[in-house]
Amino acid sequence: MSPTISTLSSTRLSKLSLLLLLFLLPFSLLVSSSTASFFSFIFVGCSQYKYSPGSPYENGIDSVLTSFVSSSASSSYNNFSFPGPTPSDTIYGLYQCRGDLAVADCSICVSRAVSQVGTLCAGSSGGTLQLEGCLVRYDNSTFLGALDKTVLLRRCGPLVGNANSDELTRGDAVLGYIGAGDGSYKPYRTGVSGSVQVVAQCVQDLSAGDCQDCLTEAIGRLKSDCGAAKWGDVYLAKCFVQYSDGDHTSGGHGTSDEEVEKTVVILIGVIVGVAVVILFLSLMATMCERARGGK
Ligand SMILES: *[C@@H]1O[C@H](CO)[C@@H](O)[C@H](O)[C@H]1NC(C)=O
Ligand SMILES: *[C@@H]1O[C@H](CO)[C@@H](O)[C@H](O)[C@H]1NC(C)=O
Repeated sequence: MSPTISTLSSTRLSKLSLLLLLFLLPFSLLVSSSTASFFSFIFVGCSQYKYSPGSPYENGIDSVLTSFVSSSASSSYNNFSFPGPTPSDTIYGLYQCRGDLAVADCSICVSRAVSQVGTLCAGSSGGTLQLEGCLVRYDNSTFLGALDKTVLLRRCGPLVGNANSDELTRGDAVLGYIGAGDGSYKPYRTGVSGSVQVVAQCVQDLSAGDCQDCLTEAIGRLKSDCGAAKWGDVYLAKCFVQYSDGDHTSGGHGTSDEEVEKTVVILIGVIVGVAVVILFLSLMATMCERARGGK
C-alpha cells in the first residue's frame, strides 16, 4: 500500500464518521435536555434512628438498595423485605418510577436515587428520596401496602393574575378529571387542558381504593394550599400531584441546578457542533485542493 492511498481512504473514513456525528448530534442533544429533568432532586428524608456500623442491618440496607437497582432494569415498581436477626432489624423497601418513564430512564433514575440516598442517609435505619421521575424508600417499619397521607413536600408557584380566571376554571376541571375515581386501578394519571397540565402518581403498593383516597387528599391540599398559583406540587407519603399552568413544561419549575445542567449540555453541544462543522469544511477544502492538484 502506498502512503497516498492510505491517506485518501482514512480521509474518506473520517469524512463518513464526521457526517454521522453531524446527523446524530441534534438527537443526542434532544435526549439529554428532555431526560435531564427526570433526575432532578425533589426531597430526601432520613429516619432519626441510627444503626451501628457493621451490624446485620447494614447488610440489609445494602441488599435492598442493590435489589432496587437490579429490579428497575425490568420493572417500574417493586417491593422487598430482608429479615434480620430480630424483628426490628427487618428492612422493608420499595421504589416507584413515574408511569411515563421508559424502562431505561427508570433504571437510571433509581440508580441515581439509590446512590444519593446512600450518601445522604448514611447510618440511618430508614430513608426516603424523591427525584422528579422516581421514589426510593426503605425502613425497618412495615410501611409496605399501608396508606399514609403524611405531607412530605408542598410547594406553590407565584399567583396567576386575576385576568386569568379562565385558566383557574380549566385547572379545576383538569384536577377534577384527575381525581375522579371510577373504581379501576390507575396509579399514574395525567390531564391536559389548554396550558394546564396535571400529573399524578400513587406508589403501587396501594390498593385501587387507597390510591384514590391518597390522590383525593393530595388534590384537596393542592387546591386549598396552592389555590390560584401558576404551579404547585403536593407530595404525600404514598402519592403525589403536580399541577402546572402556562410556559412550565413538566419538570420545568425544577431547581436551578437542572436549568444549569441543561444549559451546559446545550452549550457543549453547540461548541462541539461548530467545531465539527469547521473541521468538516476544512477537510472538504483539503480534498478539493487535492483533487484540483491531481488534474
Ligand atoms: C428500627 O430500628 C431502630 C434502631 O435500631 C429501633 O430503635 C426501632 O425500634 C426500629 N423500629 C421498628 C419498627 O422495629
Ligand atoms: C410485594 O412484592 C411481592 C412480590 O413481587 C408481591 O407479590 C406483593 O404483592 C408486593 N406487595 C405490595 C404491598 O406491593
